[in-house]
Amino acid sequence: MTKPTLNTAWAQAWAILQQAISDDRSPLRYMTLATVDKGNAPQLRTVVLREMDADKATLCIFTDTRSHKVAELGENDAVSLHLWAPDHLFQLRLSGHAQITSGEPIKKLWRTVPEHMREAYGHVPSPGTKITASDAWDVYPDVKNFAKITVSLSHVDIVCLSRGGHWRAGFIKENNWKGDWLTP
Ligand SMILES: Cc1cc2nc3c(=O)[nH]c(=O)nc-3n(C[C@H](O)[C@H](O)[C@H](O)COP(=O)(O)O)c2cc1C
Repeated sequence: MTKPTLNTAWAQAWAILQQAISDDRSPLRYMTLATVDKGNAPQLRTVVLREMDADKATLCIFTDTRSHKVAELGENDAVSLHLWAPDHLFQLRLSGHAQITSGEPIKKLWRTVPEHMREAYGHVPSPGTKITASDAWDVYPDVKNFAKITVSLSHVDIVCLSRGGHWRAGFIKENNWKGDWLTP
Protein backbone atom coordinates (compact mmCIF):
# COMPACT_ATOMS: atom_id res chain seq x y z
CA MET A 1 0.00 0.00 0.00
CA THR A 2 1.24 3.50 -0.83
CA LYS A 3 2.18 5.43 2.29
CA PRO A 4 -0.44 8.12 2.94
CA THR A 5 0.43 11.80 2.98
CA LEU A 6 -1.41 14.42 4.99
CA ASN A 7 -2.70 15.83 1.69
CA THR A 8 -4.08 12.50 0.48
CA ALA A 9 -5.61 11.81 3.91
CA TRP A 10 -7.41 15.18 3.86
CA ALA A 11 -8.55 14.69 0.26
CA GLN A 12 -9.82 11.17 0.97
CA ALA A 13 -11.84 12.37 3.94
CA TRP A 14 -13.62 14.96 1.76
CA ALA A 15 -14.07 12.41 -1.04
CA ILE A 16 -15.88 10.12 1.44
CA LEU A 17 -18.16 13.01 2.49
CA GLN A 18 -18.81 13.85 -1.17
CA GLN A 19 -19.75 10.21 -1.83
CA ALA A 20 -22.12 10.33 1.14
CA ILE A 21 -23.97 13.23 -0.44
CA SER A 22 -23.91 12.13 -4.08
CA ASP A 23 -25.11 8.56 -3.56
CA ASP A 24 -28.64 8.34 -2.11
CA ARG A 25 -28.15 4.67 -1.35
CA SER A 26 -24.77 4.96 0.33
CA PRO A 27 -24.75 4.01 4.03
CA LEU A 28 -22.10 6.72 4.37
CA ARG A 29 -24.81 9.39 4.37
CA TYR A 30 -25.88 8.32 7.86
CA MET A 31 -23.67 10.04 10.39
CA THR A 32 -23.87 10.38 14.15
CA LEU A 33 -24.38 13.93 15.38
CA ALA A 34 -23.34 14.75 18.93
CA THR A 35 -24.59 17.77 20.86
CA VAL A 36 -24.34 18.70 24.52
CA ASP A 37 -27.54 19.06 26.53
CA LYS A 38 -28.44 21.44 29.37
CA GLY A 39 -27.01 19.06 31.97
CA ASN A 40 -23.72 18.84 30.01
CA ALA A 41 -24.55 15.28 28.93
CA PRO A 42 -23.61 14.20 25.40
CA GLN A 43 -26.57 13.44 23.11
CA LEU A 44 -26.14 11.32 19.96
CA ARG A 45 -28.44 10.62 17.05
CA THR A 46 -28.31 9.47 13.42
CA VAL A 47 -28.66 12.20 10.79
CA VAL A 48 -28.33 12.38 7.01
CA LEU A 49 -25.57 14.49 5.55
CA ARG A 50 -27.24 16.81 3.00
CA GLU A 51 -24.66 19.37 1.89
CA MET A 52 -20.95 20.02 2.20
CA ASP A 53 -18.42 22.63 1.15
CA ALA A 54 -14.83 21.39 1.30
CA ASP A 55 -13.36 24.87 0.72
CA LYS A 56 -15.32 26.40 3.59
CA ALA A 57 -15.16 23.16 5.63
CA THR A 58 -18.89 23.17 6.31
CA LEU A 59 -21.42 20.33 6.51
CA CYS A 60 -25.24 20.63 6.52
CA ILE A 61 -28.02 18.55 7.98
CA PHE A 62 -31.77 19.12 7.79
CA THR A 63 -33.88 18.85 10.90
CA ASP A 64 -37.08 19.86 12.69
CA THR A 65 -36.97 23.24 14.46
CA ARG A 66 -38.91 21.72 17.35
CA SER A 67 -36.44 18.88 17.99
CA HIS A 68 -34.38 18.58 21.16
CA LYS A 69 -31.15 18.97 19.22
CA VAL A 70 -32.20 22.44 18.01
CA ALA A 71 -32.96 23.51 21.60
CA GLU A 72 -29.60 22.08 22.71
CA LEU A 73 -27.76 23.94 19.96
CA GLY A 74 -29.48 27.16 21.01
CA GLU A 75 -27.72 26.83 24.38
CA ASN A 76 -24.44 25.31 23.22
CA ASP A 77 -23.46 25.32 19.56
CA ALA A 78 -20.60 22.81 19.96
CA VAL A 79 -21.12 19.70 17.81
CA SER A 80 -19.28 16.65 16.62
CA LEU A 81 -20.11 14.35 13.73
CA HIS A 82 -18.89 10.76 13.47
CA LEU A 83 -18.68 8.52 10.43
CA TRP A 84 -17.22 5.03 9.91
CA ALA A 85 -16.52 4.31 6.25
CA PRO A 86 -15.96 0.53 6.12
CA ASP A 87 -14.85 0.37 2.47
CA HIS A 88 -12.12 2.92 3.16
CA LEU A 89 -11.42 1.73 6.73
CA PHE A 90 -11.70 5.38 7.77
CA GLN A 91 -13.14 6.81 10.95
CA LEU A 92 -13.93 10.51 10.62
CA ARG A 93 -14.54 12.75 13.62
CA LEU A 94 -15.60 16.21 12.54
CA SER A 95 -16.07 18.86 15.21
CA GLY A 96 -17.07 22.47 15.14
CA HIS A 97 -19.90 24.90 15.77
CA ALA A 98 -23.44 24.81 14.47
CA GLN A 99 -25.66 27.51 13.11
CA ILE A 100 -29.41 27.00 12.63
CA THR A 101 -31.23 28.51 9.66
CA SER A 102 -35.04 28.45 9.51
CA GLY A 103 -37.98 30.61 8.39
CA GLU A 104 -37.78 32.97 5.41
CA PRO A 105 -34.13 32.28 4.40
CA ILE A 106 -34.90 28.58 4.05
CA LYS A 107 -38.12 28.73 2.02
CA LYS A 108 -36.30 28.29 -1.32
CA LEU A 109 -34.57 25.15 -0.01
CA TRP A 110 -37.92 23.79 1.27
CA ARG A 111 -39.29 23.90 -2.29
CA THR A 112 -36.53 21.45 -3.32
CA VAL A 113 -37.47 18.91 -0.61
CA PRO A 114 -39.60 16.14 -2.18
CA GLU A 115 -43.16 15.79 -0.83
CA HIS A 116 -42.53 12.42 0.90
CA MET A 117 -39.45 13.80 2.66
CA ARG A 118 -41.32 16.84 3.98
CA GLU A 119 -43.19 14.48 6.30
CA ALA A 120 -40.08 14.34 8.48
CA TYR A 121 -40.76 17.98 9.37
CA GLY A 122 -44.39 17.64 10.33
CA HIS A 123 -44.75 15.21 13.20
CA VAL A 124 -47.50 16.32 15.60
CA PRO A 125 -47.17 16.51 18.55
CA SER A 126 -43.58 17.73 18.28
CA PRO A 127 -40.63 15.26 18.26
CA GLY A 128 -39.87 13.74 21.65
CA THR A 129 -43.35 14.39 23.13
CA LYS A 130 -44.75 11.58 25.35
CA ILE A 131 -47.74 9.94 23.55
CA THR A 132 -50.29 7.31 24.58
CA ALA A 133 -49.49 4.73 21.84
CA SER A 134 -46.77 4.18 19.22
CA ASP A 135 -49.03 5.57 16.50
CA ALA A 136 -50.68 8.37 18.45
CA TRP A 137 -49.16 11.07 16.28
CA ASP A 138 -49.91 12.67 12.94
CA VAL A 139 -48.13 14.32 10.04
CA TYR A 140 -48.64 17.95 8.99
CA PRO A 141 -45.53 18.99 7.04
CA ASP A 142 -44.84 22.68 7.53
CA VAL A 143 -41.97 24.86 6.38
CA LYS A 144 -42.10 26.45 9.85
CA ASN A 145 -40.63 23.21 11.23
CA PHE A 146 -37.87 22.97 8.67
CA ALA A 147 -34.33 23.92 9.65
CA LYS A 148 -30.85 23.57 8.29
CA ILE A 149 -27.96 22.95 10.67
CA THR A 150 -24.71 24.24 9.21
CA VAL A 151 -21.63 22.92 10.95
CA SER A 152 -18.49 25.04 10.51
CA LEU A 153 -15.71 22.61 11.24
CA SER A 154 -12.78 23.48 13.48
CA HIS A 155 -11.22 20.00 13.93
CA VAL A 156 -11.02 16.91 11.73
CA ASP A 157 -9.61 13.67 13.11
CA ILE A 158 -9.04 10.73 10.76
CA VAL A 159 -8.17 7.20 11.86
CA CYS A 160 -7.38 4.56 9.24
CA LEU A 161 -7.12 0.92 10.31
CA SER A 162 -5.76 -0.44 7.05
CA ARG A 163 -3.91 -3.80 7.07
CA GLY A 164 -1.09 -1.97 5.33
CA GLY A 165 -0.63 0.11 8.46
CA HIS A 166 -2.70 2.00 10.98
CA TRP A 167 -2.47 5.77 11.01
CA ARG A 168 -4.16 8.81 12.45
CA ALA A 169 -4.13 12.42 11.30
CA GLY A 170 -5.48 15.57 12.93
CA PHE A 171 -6.33 18.81 11.14
CA ILE A 172 -7.11 22.11 12.87
CA LYS A 173 -8.73 25.13 11.23
CA GLU A 174 -6.74 27.50 13.45
CA ASN A 175 -3.59 26.12 11.77
CA ASN A 176 -5.10 26.75 8.32
CA TRP A 177 -5.99 23.06 8.22
CA LYS A 178 -2.32 22.06 8.28
CA GLY A 179 -2.41 18.44 9.39
CA ASP A 180 -0.34 16.48 11.89
CA TRP A 181 0.25 12.78 12.20
CA LEU A 182 -0.94 11.42 15.53
CA THR A 183 -0.30 8.09 17.18
CA PRO A 184 -3.31 5.95 16.22
C1 LIG B 1 -31.59 6.43 9.45
C2 LIG B 1 -31.99 7.66 10.20
C3 LIG B 1 -31.77 8.89 9.62
C4 LIG B 1 -32.15 10.05 10.30
N1 LIG B 1 -31.91 11.26 9.73
C5 LIG B 1 -32.23 12.40 10.41
C6 LIG B 1 -31.90 13.69 9.88
O1 LIG B 1 -31.34 13.84 8.79
N2 LIG B 1 -32.26 14.77 10.61
C7 LIG B 1 -32.88 14.66 11.82
O2 LIG B 1 -33.16 15.69 12.43
N3 LIG B 1 -33.18 13.46 12.36
C8 LIG B 1 -32.87 12.33 11.69
N4 LIG B 1 -33.16 11.10 12.22
C9 LIG B 1 -33.84 11.03 13.54
C10 LIG B 1 -32.81 11.30 14.64
O3 LIG B 1 -31.90 10.23 14.74
C11 LIG B 1 -33.49 11.58 15.98
O4 LIG B 1 -34.23 10.46 16.40
C12 LIG B 1 -34.43 12.78 15.90
O5 LIG B 1 -33.89 13.79 15.08
C13 LIG B 1 -34.68 13.35 17.30
O6 LIG B 1 -33.45 13.70 17.86
P1 LIG B 1 -33.32 14.78 19.05
O7 LIG B 1 -34.42 14.47 20.01
O8 LIG B 1 -31.98 14.54 19.61
O9 LIG B 1 -33.46 16.13 18.43
C14 LIG B 1 -32.76 9.95 11.57
C15 LIG B 1 -32.94 8.70 12.15
C16 LIG B 1 -32.56 7.57 11.48
C17 LIG B 1 -32.78 6.23 12.15
